[in-house]
Amino acid sequence: MCPRPQGVGGGAIALLEQGLCVLVSQLLLAKAPEPIEERLGPGGQVQRGPSLSVFPSIGSCPLVVCRALSKTPAALALNQTQHCKQLEGLVSAQVQLCRSNLELMHTIVHAAREVMKACRRAFADMRWNCSSIELAPNYLLDLERGTRESAFVYALSAAAISHAIARACTSGDLPGCSCGPVPGEPPGPGNRWGGCADNLSYGLLMGAKFSDAPMKVKKTGSQANKLMRLHNSEVGRQALRASLEMKCKCHGVSGSCSIRTCWKGLQELRDVAADLKTRYLSATKVVHRPMGTRKHLVPKDLDIRPVKDSELVYLQSSPDFCMKNEKVGSHGTQDRQCNKTSHGSDSCDLMCCGRGYNPYTDRVVERCHCKYHWCCYVTCRRCERTVERYVCK
Ligand SMILES: *[C@@H]1O[C@H](CO)[C@@H](O)[C@H](O)[C@H]1NC(C)=O
Ligand SMILES: *[C@@H]1O[C@H](CO)[C@@H](O)[C@H](O)[C@H]1NC(C)=O
Ligand SMILES: *[C@@H]1O[C@H](CO)[C@@H](O)[C@H](O)[C@H]1NC(C)=O
Ligand SMILES: *[C@@H]1O[C@H](CO)[C@@H](O)[C@H](O)[C@H]1NC(C)=O
Repeated sequence: MCPRPQGVGGGAIALLEQGLCVLVSQLLLAKAPEPIEERLGPGGQVQRGPSLSVFPSIGSCPLVVCRALSKTPAALALNQTQHCKQLEGLVSAQVQLCRSNLELMHTIVHAAREVMKACRRAFADMRWNCSSIELAPNYLLDLERGTRESAFVYALSAAAISHAIARACTSGDLPGCSCGPVPGEPPGPGNRWGGCADNLSYGLLMGAKFSDAPMKVKKTGSQANKLMRLHNSEVGRQALRASLEMKCKCHGVSGSCSIRTCWKGLQELRDVAADLKTRYLSATKVVHRPMGTRKHLVPKDLDIRPVKDSELVYLQSSPDFCMKNEKVGSHGTQDRQCNKTSHGSDSCDLMCCGRGYNPYTDRVVERCHCKYHWCCYVTCRRCERTVERYVCK
C-alpha cells in the first residue's frame, strides 16, 4: 500500500513519494503478480507477501530539513524564489539559501529520503530501529531530547545533505558546481586521474550552511542542545570526509585493464551510516559546563579532556527500549523478530530483554531448479521450505 500524504493538503514530499510509490507498485504488479513467500504467522494464520520488502515504506522527512519541507503545500513546485518563504519552518538563513540556490532544494529533499533508508538499515538489528524517524515532524522523545539516537540522526542528516550535494555536482544537476579537484598526488602505476570527482568541499560548505542554520538562531532551544547538534552534525561531515576513496575504471584491449582511470568518489551513504553507528555505540555523555569564559560540552565522567572531534556526544541517557513507553519515546520490542543463533544485538536474548520469544514457522516459496533455454529465457520451478523464526514475547 502506498502512504497517503498527510496533513492539510499533504506535503510536497509526501506527494512525491505517493507518486513514486504508486508508480513502483504498478510496475511490480505488472511484472510479478504472484506472491513469492507465504508465512505462517505466530497465530498460525498464513500471511502472504513478497519475500523481501521490495521498497521500504518511505515516511515523510528527517529533522530540521524535513520538519520544514514536510509542511510544504502540495502544489508548491519549488521552481521560483517566492516559493522559499512559503516553506514553513525554515529559519531565515535557510530561506535565504533557498532563494539563492533554488535547485539545491530538490537535492535536499532527496537527501531527506536517503537519511531514512540509511538509518533504518543501520539499526535494523537494534532495539531502537529508527522507525520513529517516520513520524517527522512530530518526533517522539527519542529524537526530540538530546539522546544518543538523536545524536546519530543529526550526524547522519548532516552527512546525507553534504553527500547528496557533492553527488549532484558530479551528475551535473547543480549549476553552481562542477567536478571536484584533481588530486595533487600521482594516482599510482598504471592509473591516471580522470572522470568526475565528487565535489566534496562544495557539498560540505553548502550542506553545513543548510543543516546548521537552525542551531545558529539565537532564540530557540537550549544552548546545550544546540551545541550538541552542531557538534554531531560536524561529526557526520567528518565521517563523510573519511569516506572519500579512490575509484577506478578499467580500460585497455578487451577489458585487459592495462590503463585505469581513477577519481576520488564518496562511499555510499549506507557505508557512512555504518561508520556513524560505530560512533553511536561508543558515544560520549557530556554536560554543559563553564570552561574558561564560556560554557562548553565536556565529557561527564572524564571532564579533564575536551570532547573529541570524532566522537558523537549526547546529553541525556536513553531508555533501554525494552518496553513500550511513549513518554520516553520507546516502542518496546514485543513482536520484533529476533535471531536465535546470533550473539549480537539481534539475538533473542538481547532483543527480547530476557522476556523470551515465540517460535513460528515461515513457509518460504522460492524459485528453484532454474534452467536457461537458448535463446533467451529461463524457466523455474517453485520449491517450498520451512524456516523457524522467532518473535519477542
Ligand atoms: C514552475 O512549475 C509549475 C508547475 O510545474 C509550472 O507551471 C511553472 O511554469 C514553472 N515555472 C517556472 C518559472 O519554471
Ligand atoms: C567545486 O565546486 C566549486 C563550487 O562551484 C567550484 O568553485 C570548484 O571549482 C569545484 N571544484 C572544481 C575542481 O571544479
Ligand atoms: C521497528 O520497531 C517497531 C517498534 O517496535 C516495529 O513496529 C517495527 O515493525 C520495526 N521495524 C522493523 C523493520 O523491524
Ligand atoms: C542469524 O544470525 C546468524 C549468526 O550471526 C546468521 O548467520 C544468520 O544469517 C542470521 N539469521 C537471520 C534469519 O538473520
